[in-house]
Order: sequence, then C-alpha cells, then structure tokens
Amino acid sequence: MLGAKESFVIKSLEFRKLGTALAAFAFIAAGCSAGGANTAPVATTLPSVTTAAPTPVAPAATTVPAAMAAPTATAVPAVTATKAATVAPAPTLAPTPTACSVTLTPAQTEGPYYLAGAPMKASLVEAGMAGTRVILTGRVLTNQCVPVAGAIVDVWQADDAGVYDLKGFRLRGKVAADAQGNYAIETILPGLYPGRTRHIHVKVTIPGGPTLTSQVYFPNEGANRTDGIFDAAMLAKMSDGAGGVKMATIDFVLKK
Ligand SMILES: [Fe+2]
Repeated sequence: MLGAKESFVIKSLEFRKLGTALAAFAFIAAGCSAGGANTAPVATTLPSVTTAAPTPVAPAATTVPAAMAAPTATAVPAVTATKAATVAPAPTLAPTPTACSVTLTPAQTEGPYYLAGAPMKASLVEAGMAGTRVILTGRVLTNQCVPVAGAIVDVWQADDAGVYDLKGFRLRGKVAADAQGNYAIETILPGLYPGRTRHIHVKVTIPGGPTLTSQVYFPNEGANRTDGIFDAAMLAKMSDGAGGVKMATIDFVLKK
C-alpha cells in the first residue's frame, strides 16, 4: 500500500508529464503557424502576377493614339510647305521679262565704197588729216541684252572733203569690243557728198555671226531731212570729250 506521501509524488510526476506534453503540443502548434507563414509569400506572389498582367495592355493603348496623332502632325507641315513652294517662283519669274528692253539695230545699205580687209586700229586719224575729231563709241549687245565680247566693228567713211579712199585703207579700220561689249574708235566727222547726209558706215560682227551692216548719223544736220536712206534710229548721241574731241555714242544690238 502506498502512503499519502508516495501518492502525492506519483501525482506530481504525472502532472509534469502532462506539462511536457502540453509544451510539445505548443511547440508543434508554433511550428505549424511558422509553416503557415511560409505560405504567405505565395499569396503575395499571386497579386504581383495579377498586377503585372495589365502592364502589357497599357502599351497597346498608348500605341493607338500615337499612330492617330502622327498623321495629323505630318499633314500640317505638308500644307504649309506646298504653299511656300508655289509662292516662291513668282517673284523670281516676274523680273525676267522686264530685264531686257532693247531694240534691234536696223540694217542699212552697204553702199558702193566698202573694202574688205581693213586693218585693226583704234584710231583712223592720220597726221595732218583735216576734220573735227570724233570718237565713235558704245556697246555691242545681243537682243537678250548680253554684251558681246570680241564683237568686231568695221568702219569706213568719207574724209572731211566727202571723198572715199578707194585705193587703200585711209579712214577705214576695225576695233574689237572688250569684255563688257564696249567699243571705241577715233576718227573724224565725215564730209558731205552729193545726195547724202553726214554718215559713217559700219559692219558689226558677233563672233560666230551674224554680221549687221548699217550707217551712223549725226543730229542737227540739215541733210538728214532730205537723205532718203537716213534713219533717225541710227542717230548718235553727241557729247564733248576731253581735248575738244566730240563723242558720238551709239549701241549696236544684234539678234543672237
Ligand atoms: Fe557713204
């Protein structure tokens, strides 16, 4: 038989076992709760997948407006560029028709006294030659107002007494126009002979052709009114040059 003391000890031991068992259960329970905590990331992972899913949809939505906006932006500059292109040529074309306003030099008869082969010389004046000195000058142009460099101006005329040299080249000669089409040849004021007013004969040749044959006249000459060949379009403009020399200016315009 157990005494009261032994019975108390046994009960105490049993109570301790129970406590240990409860502690073990609590530990297991705690482990289970820790394992439950491991499942928590799974729950958080799922939302992250669902939030990532809308992301690809967003670019599709932004691509459509971008494509719609692009044609609008390019259409506007295209219209303004077209207007600019159509306006620009107008001012460049307008001045062209008014840039050249010359009249072709009229042709006139050669007459009976022309001699081919006259020498090139800037002055036809010889020592002791009577007559008023004149410098015949001007420009040689095409009907497009282009100066003709190298154009040849061939001159022949009567002397102060109205006589032509038919044996040589007295008062006969040629000059070439410079790069700007300017020509100048020194001579004397030609004399009068029966039936004609005062005049100088010329042949003007553009390199490669053509050749224009005409005559130059002088203003304030009474015989200009009676000469049947006279043409007022061929009147030279007179002015005073240096040293008492007269300047007789006239341009020659040839069709080219
Ligand atoms: Fe003549």
